[in-house]
Amino acid sequence: MPENKNLISNVSDNQFEYLKLIAEIMEVRKRGEKPLAYIRTYGCQQNVADSEKIKGMLAESGFDFVDAPDDADFILFNTCAVREHAEDRVFGNVGALKALKRRHPQILIALCGCMMEQEHIANKIYKSFPFVGLVFGTHSLHHFPELMYNSLVNGKRVFERGNDDKMLYEGIPVRRDGTFKGWLPIMYGCNNFCTYCIVPYVRGRERSRDKNVIIEEAKQMINSGYKDITLLGQNVNSYGKTLPDDVNFSNLLSEIDSIEGDYWLRFMTSHPRDCSKELIDTIANGKHISRHLHLPFQSGSDRVLKAMNRHYDRKKYLDIIKYAKEKIDGLSLTSDIIVGFPGETYEEFKETLSLIKEVEFTSLFTFIYSPRVGTPAAKMDDPVPYEEKSRWFQELLAVQEEIAAKRCASMVGNIEKVLIEEVGKDGEVNGRTSGNIIVELNAPENLVGTFQNVKITKARNWILKGELI
Ligand code: 5AD
Ligand code: SF4
Repeated sequence: MPENKNLISNVSDNQFEYLKLIAEIMEVRKRGEKPLAYIRTYGCQQNVADSEKIKGMLAESGFDFVDAPDDADFILFNTCAVREHAEDRVFGNVGALKALKRRHPQILIALCGCMMEQEHIANKIYKSFPFVGLVFGTHSLHHFPELMYNSLVNGKRVFERGNDDKMLYEGIPVRRDGTFKGWLPIMYGCNNFCTYCIVPYVRGRERSRDKNVIIEEAKQMINSGYKDITLLGQNVNSYGKTLPDDVNFSNLLSEIDSIEGDYWLRFMTSHPRDCSKELIDTIANGKHISRHLHLPFQSGSDRVLKAMNRHYDRKKYLDIIKYAKEKIDGLSLTSDIIVGFPGETYEEFKETLSLIKEVEFTSLFTFIYSPRVGTPAAKMDDPVPYEEKSRWFQELLAVQEEIAAKRCASMVGNIEKVLIEEVGKDGEVNGRTSGNIIVELNAPENLVGTFQNVKITKARNWILKGELI
């Protein structure tokens, strides 16, 4: 197999043996009562999907899940390293567990995820948080049962950071959080090395899952009633590049789309660098594919994009958007933006503002640049003070708020297909359109998890109000 291909393997049977052994240990400790686990997930959907695998494994060992750490026998934080703020929250919340561990020395406190793949973080946890018994990174998920077993039986602290970049493991049981809305990972890792981003260092090289395995999982989800399925990957547009077969993301998307059923198919995240016309045509011709494209552009300035190593320029981005708007009726566009990349000037920031005015996004995920240890951008000159960047950030939010309000107002009077998702406040329920816009309406609770046709009656900033028809 060529060098750049990933290797796919089934998780070893041994791991299931460890799950049985964990069940036996917990049975003795709990004298027959169900063991309880508290899992808290920080960060992106990829982490949510990883936590669903950890819950799948724990459920095989007989664990039930609780919403607060107090009664749990096993506490796990699945952490995010993408910005400093996320890391600070983890440190604060782990610190708060010290008293709990003192009161209940039997509990096992564990940390996993992207933060734990960084050596300086793992060292800090080792030194400053001695009550944390188990630490493992994103590459160690496939043998989590063995790691947990080792920390339960020998009482020693277990710390593991993986380096097995090319392997992808199938066969880990999944316990999904939702019953009608679910995540379906199609690939892991990232090869893009945007200069600000820690992801390639903590999640490793790009690895795609086998197409038939993904299609089988999608079928199972649809047959068991999932109505909203999101295909997940750090950069879904490069799906298939590391597989021996001749597949790409558009093929995968249209094959899943051809599965019979009443459901929506979403995907995230796309990189503008390899967002092809073929992909846009696939969305336009899709039966189930939502009319939504999340296409992070990060900056509207060509100089900044180059410094970010993004491999596209403003014109290429706007060309894709133009093509997508022409082809896809009612398209809803969203994006990620970084404000205050090292060396960005106010003039360059204004190019980001002008781009959002031109495209008219439905909503934006906006971030102030956060230096990440080990990335090239962290070594770049960064002369603009944080307070100044915060002012730019506020300016961006104000412009976007107006755009979103205008976009939502233009939908008043439309009839939209809405997936009712949850009970809201004041007897209302909340749902989402195919374009991922929130709709609040009066409707009975038992409609949660169903599609309904809704007349849009009002718009409030980026939220719609509607009524059942
Ligand atoms: N600082 C700020 N934002 C970042 N992102 C990734 N790395 C950083 C960083 N160092 C943002 C990007 C990405 C989103 C998931 O997080 O906009 O698309
Ligand atoms: Fe990070 Fe860029 Fe990869 Fe996205 S594409 S995960 S921003 S390196």
